[in-house]
Amino acid sequence: MRPEQHPLLHSATRIAAGDDRTRYDTFSISLHWLTALLVIVQFVLAVTWGDFPRPTRHLMIVAHMSLGIVLTAVIAIRIVWRLTPGHAVPAATTGWVELASKAVHYLLYAMLAAEAVLGFVLRWSGNESMSFFGLLMTPPMEPFSKPMHRLMGEIHEWNGWAIVILAAGHAAAALYHHYVLRDGVLGRMLPSIRKRGLP
Ligand code: HEM
Ligand code: HEM
Repeated sequence: MRPEQHPLLHSATRIAAGDDRTRYDTFSISLHWLTALLVIVQFVLAVTWGDFPRPTRHLMIVAHMSLGIVLTAVIAIRIVWRLTPGHAVPAATTGWVELASKAVHYLLYAMLAAEAVLGFVLRWSGNESMSFFGLLMTPPMEPFSKPMHRLMGEIHEWNGWAIVILAAGHAAAALYHHYVLRDGVLGRMLPSIRKRGLP
């Protein structure tokens, strides 16, 4: 029998490996930082492409769409992984701080998922193909009226700004834990030094 097939053996091997369930697993950590990187790249592309002339601007929009599809996959995998039993970690805080941090985390997941859906709807509602590194995905739906299409763009844009602002507050809270409170909250989301065989 493989250890993961028996709950007791599973816990024993996990504890023996130094995983005391107080930190996120390596895959969750990788997905977290990949999400953060992609969100920043998406935001920078979208708020700066207006300053560039034609061929460059077009390339930036295509990059935003292609990386947007990668981000959609990352978010979907992340949510499925997070919902699979054993991949959540107990809260590092208590009381209102625990509630506030949970609310921010759930809100970030919801806003990211909405942003991904809005990205596809925005492009297709204008009767244009989504582009995945040159591969075109034609609209599977009827185009929206001009004002509705414009509204989709506004909602996607405002939600994008809201994600970045909320994530900045979230990052500030993580840094406050690390540098002011000097607890292990940031360390829960960083690769383990122990696992690399260092002291
Ligand atoms: C959190 C990540 C994202 C942020 C911050 C973001 C931000 C933005 C912003 C601010 C714009 C409007 C730019 C303008 O018109 O001035 C935009 C446009 C757009 N975004 Fe995103 N976006 C994100 C994710 C995505 C995803 C996941 C997709 C696709 C799956 C996507 C697809 C699009 C498309 C198609 C446009 C319109 C491009 C055009 O045809 O002009 N975005 N995005
Ligand atoms: C766009 C950027 C970011 C997004 C969308 C994001 C999103 C999230 C989400 C959804 C969680 C909840 C994980 C879960 O329990 O399922 C989380 C946890 C966490 N994030 Fe971020 N994050 C971002 C950037 C950052 C940055 C820049 C930092 C550090 C400076 C950071 C530090 C952390 C830490 C320490 C946790 C774990 C908190 C805990 O143990 O309760 N995040 N993040």
